[in-house]
Amino acid sequence: MSKLEKSIINTNYKIGVLGGGQLGKMLALAAGNWHLPLYMLDASKDFPAAYLTPHFTEGNFKKYEDVLAFGKGKDILTIEIEHVNTEALHQLEKEGITIHPAPAKLDIIKDKGAQKLFYQEHNIPTSPFQLFDDEKALLNALQNGEVNFPFVQKSRTAGYDGKGVSLIRNAAELDSKLLQGPCLIEELVDIDKELAVIVARNESGDSIAYPAVEMEFHPEANLVEFLVCPAAISEEVETAARELALRVINTFDVCGLLAVELFLDKAGNILVNEVAPRPHNSGHHTIDSCYTSQYEQHLRAITNMPLGSTKMKAPSVMVNLLGEDGHIGLAKYEGIAECLEIEGVHLHLYGKTTTKPFRKMGHATIVDDNLDRAKEKARKVKDLLKIVS
Ligand SMILES: Nc1ncnc2c1ncn2[C@@H]1O[C@H](COP(=O)(O)OP(=O)(O)OP(=O)(O)O)[C@@H](O)[C@H]1O
Ligand SMILES: [Mg+2]
Repeated sequence: MSKLEKSIINTNYKIGVLGGGQLGKMLALAAGNWHLPLYMLDASKDFPAAYLTPHFTEGNFKKYEDVLAFGKGKDILTIEIEHVNTEALHQLEKEGITIHPAPAKLDIIKDKGAQKLFYQEHNIPTSPFQLFDDEKALLNALQNGEVNFPFVQKSRTAGYDGKGVSLIRNAAELDSKLLQGPCLIEELVDIDKELAVIVARNESGDSIAYPAVEMEFHPEANLVEFLVCPAAISEEVETAARELALRVINTFDVCGLLAVELFLDKAGNILVNEVAPRPHNSGHHTIDSCYTSQYEQHLRAITNMPLGSTKMKAPSVMVNLLGEDGHIGLAKYEGIAECLEIEGVHLHLYGKTTTKPFRKMGHATIVDDNLDRAKEKARKVKDLLKIVS
């Protein structure tokens, strides 16, 4: 009997999670099925995951002391956000605590520059790039003709939800769009489709891929708006995308989930954009549409259990439920009952107390045998459900 199997009887097994947002909440829900409490660290007991566990520690996962204190005595540590203090994780690893993903890999992944170097070193297809110490060095390179417009500038460490990403088309845009600090620039990919493949790997080295999902972006917020599974791609592209994602997780040699964001360019090449070593927005649909949700899969992987089937139960469309533009304050929900009348609609509300324009407040997954009908329903949900103040 493994340590985990014993613990399910006496609940002594301690899985610690850095971060207590919506991903942590859904991880805690999956852990609940195994009657495992998760230990969680985040800023406030108001956060989405807090009410699901009696073991919520208020603290800062970016602070060395907080992570170190939290990690002591845990059997396994994992994350729901990569921007955590890895110095403390290295220390905890030295003290014998199992950490998935390993801190050394987290160091690479949380720095978009180091990530790109990793792909280059391992011959993983990715768009051409250059690294800069700061924006001044980039401006110099532009002046010397070492860099040409247009390009995509990315902050090396600060970005999430498109916030550390700037598409700069010409010199006139530099004033308003140039990002400060250490950065990289990438060639603009002629994108046909944005895809994501979530893969999982356990300590035994078994790995498995979910079906590719296709992302459609909100034009203003630069957030994924619709996420469609299966993606409208050929079988060859589907297979190639899954194989590439599996190659990426095996090359990184991490345990747990790895969400691999891919670009399919107009010439048919598949390029790795970036990865996230944790549950991911593009995997929310798996709760309602796959044999094994990404959250249960993450738990299986980090506890070295057999990985679950990634088979699809039904086609699905996922919509992020964003705070309405122009509304800041205590969140109110309109249209919930109308949405729940629609067959196949599953609402997931994160319980964030305050709403802000385009803040991720929840998501809806619509399952339907017919993908076009699922999309129609997803549009209806978007029209009906409003999160206002
Ligand atoms: N080289 C590129 N060429 C064209 N478009 C790009 C390129 N890099 C990024 N983008 C666009 O910008 C989006 C955000 O980029 P990226 O995924 O690197 O940033 P992010 O801040 O991590 O975003 P998110 O958290 O939403 O994944 C991509 O999904 C894509 O639409
Ligand atoms: Mg991204």
